[in-house]
Amino acid sequence: MVDEVCTRKDQPEARFLIGTGKVDELAERVKQQEASLVLFNHRLSPIQERNLGRAIGTAVLDRTTLILDIFAQRAQSHEGKLQVELAQLRHLSTRLIRGWTHLERQRGGIGMRGPGETQLETDRRLVADRIRMLKSRLNRVERHRALGRSARSGQDQSNTPPLVAFVGYTNAGKSTLFNRITDAEVFAKDQLFATLDPTVRKIDGIRGSAVLASDTVGFIEHLPHELIAAFRATLEETLSASLVLHVVDASDPALDVHQQTVDEVLEQIGASDLPRLKVFNKIDLVDRAPVVVRDDLGIPTQVWVSAQTGDGLQALLDAIEERVSEGRICRWVELPAPLQKLRSQLFDLGAIVDEQVTENGSSRLQVDLARRDARELSRLGGRDGSWVDQHLLKC
Ligand code: GTP
Repeated sequence: MVDEVCTRKDQPEARFLIGTGKVDELAERVKQQEASLVLFNHRLSPIQERNLGRAIGTAVLDRTTLILDIFAQRAQSHEGKLQVELAQLRHLSTRLIRGWTHLERQRGGIGMRGPGETQLETDRRLVADRIRMLKSRLNRVERHRALGRSARSGQDQSNTPPLVAFVGYTNAGKSTLFNRITDAEVFAKDQLFATLDPTVRKIDGIRGSAVLASDTVGFIEHLPHELIAAFRATLEETLSASLVLHVVDASDPALDVHQQTVDEVLEQIGASDLPRLKVFNKIDLVDRAPVVVRDDLGIPTQVWVSAQTGDGLQALLDAIEERVSEGRICRWVELPAPLQKLRSQLFDLGAIVDEQVTENGSSRLQVDLARRDARELSRLGGRDGSWVDQHLLKC
């Protein structure tokens, strides 16, 4: 980045978003610095983007387009890629206006013009066709997932180790911490959104049974609404985690706002009820000692560490172990006879340890399953889902 211009405005201007004086200033600075691109950390309407590009004499990108470009470069899973392309095309379709020939520029004039169609109509038709195609592929992917979500890397789910999902505001140090405690070679750089797709690895140094960890893309403030699905697709693993590790940069001056952003995004993607452990990272920068903070019941809720120096990491591993071992549900329950489908699902999960049939035809089951699996079953909805909520999750 060669330069930065800030401005405050109570009311956005329809033509340029910013005032004309600022537009002139921008054009002047672009000339001076020989800049080839101007990024707006704000949403721009298609018209504003076009007007600004013409007035400043250089390419202009708004915040959503930039985030989408980053998502597109980083998305790795099939679903992640489809979601990102869908979001990109939806964003592009609002920008297909007369005199603004994105498709021609981007693809060198794609497709063939139908009889009597203007280029604009052709572009719109092609985009609409592709959106339809992507939606149907995504539907297929989602159906497939609903049927066979159990297979995390082909493992038998009854033995699936607990999963810890690393989340946090961008640049909080998630990848660095992830690498330190998993030995994984995940790309870590002082760069925004260094990670988009979750990578699952085994945590090293936990004494009990194996625990997996997944790294995720950094969260950001004001995630544009239309990007939530694309972002959510990158957080697949988070939704089935036994524990969410919220990594916070302890040296960040905007630490409170950024924590709130993470909380809001977790809520938006439906992960707000998962157990959480906060990790305040980078204590080397704020001169704090490593410490574990516990709640009234003695459960660890915060750990202060430095992923860089390694201070506090053993305490973090112990706290993770303590928290994930809470994650199993073992008890006797009575399952009414009509819920046979649920019984077979519990059976498939290897969650039924013992079974007795009662006089009224219902089953008394001794179950042993991961809380995460119970949460998955509760997503079935209907009578099965509410039974799981009431008898497995809520007590
Ligand atoms: P995104 O992928 O953008 O979400 O970033 P991230 O949260 O994965 O952050 P990452 O691990 O890439 O670290 C961001 C920067 O913080 C890098 O320059 C790290 O070297 C630095 N960093 C991470 N942990 C520490 C720490 O404990 N102390 C200090 N001083 N720097 C750290």
